[in-house]
Amino acid sequence: SWTTTSIVDEQVAAIREQVGSKRAICGLSGGVDSAVAAALVQKAIGTQLTCVYVDHGLMRKGETEQVEKDFVAATGVQLKVVDAADRFLDALAGVSDPEQKRKIIGREFIRVFEQAQAELVAEAGAAGEDVAFLVQGTLYPDVVESGGGSGTANIKSHHNVGGLPEDLEFELVEPLRKLFKDEVRMVGQELGLPDEIVQRQPFPGPGLGIRIVGAVDRERLDLLREADAIAREELTAAGLDRDIWQCPVVLLADVRSVGVQGDGRTYGHPVVLRPVSSEDAMTADWSRLPYDVLSRISTRITNEVRDVNRVVLDITSKPPGTIEWE
Ligand code: XMP
Repeated sequence: SWTTTSIVDEQVAAIREQVGSKRAICGLSGGVDSAVAAALVQKAIGTQLTCVYVDHGLMRKGETEQVEKDFVAATGVQLKVVDAADRFLDALAGVSDPEQKRKIIGREFIRVFEQAQAELVAEAGAAGEDVAFLVQGTLYPDVVESGGGSGTANIKSHHNVGGLPEDLEFELVEPLRKLFKDEVRMVGQELGLPDEIVQRQPFPGPGLGIRIVGAVDRERLDLLREADAIAREELTAAGLDRDIWQCPVVLLADVRSVGVQGDGRTYGHPVVLRPVSSEDAMTADWSRLPYDVLSRISTRITNEVRDVNRVVLDITSKPPGTIEWE
């Protein structure tokens, strides 16, 4: 639309003026906001931007590939992918407590990002260039929720850290600061990002790590990844992606129940479907999905995912339940 075009033009001009001939880096999470912010900055300054994507091994099926292929294809951005799965999974080994998991994942993420940042700065510095800018996909609601400018100061102290020279100061580039989510999606569309990125449902930073109730390991992640992929496939096929806010699939890794398949007894794990509708994730209601869709998801998961022999539906609103289980 005309307004979206003018937002893009305005921001491109503003970013060019702010960054000048220096370099910028941007952490990509796979989510809509960082993708659209990166695409805008890429349009403005091209190869002066480098994106960093940390694969923590807790992503869903196809997600890392989507960033690597679709995003790069749509934008031509320079992308540095850091494979950090070993590091995250080692740090998470044996940990079941949700808060502890979150803290570990957050800590490792920052360490890896810092390391990648330092490498990029060193590379650019060797070429006589100055990396001065950090791109963030901060939206208007983020700014408001964190009380004006204070939230961005937090984000800055998170990413602008030790390991880097004392005198190195990143200035933030936040082209989405005045926009709401739906406007961000329109800008993404205008920039030619594929629907798979622009229309993505929210997915938590800690990824599948907080969707396994119990300790996280590779085998459990593989089970959950398969079950989640089936649920997503069927919801998409049924045309329900825009009706639901998101549908976490949760593996109850420490629970087993008896089942029967063919002539044999099984003793496997349940997965929980958690489809919700929401405006802003502050409150949510469980989605009344059509029974035939639920039935297809259940049949396919129990047939196709080894060790999962039961599918249950979470019919709790938020409050009292949160959207995620951890
Ligand atoms: P809850 O579970 O608190 O989730 O009802 C609300 C929304 O936030 C997402 N979520 C997160 N997103 N990092 C994120 O980027 C996180 O640590 C995190 N925890 C929850 C959740 O998926 C839902 O959309």
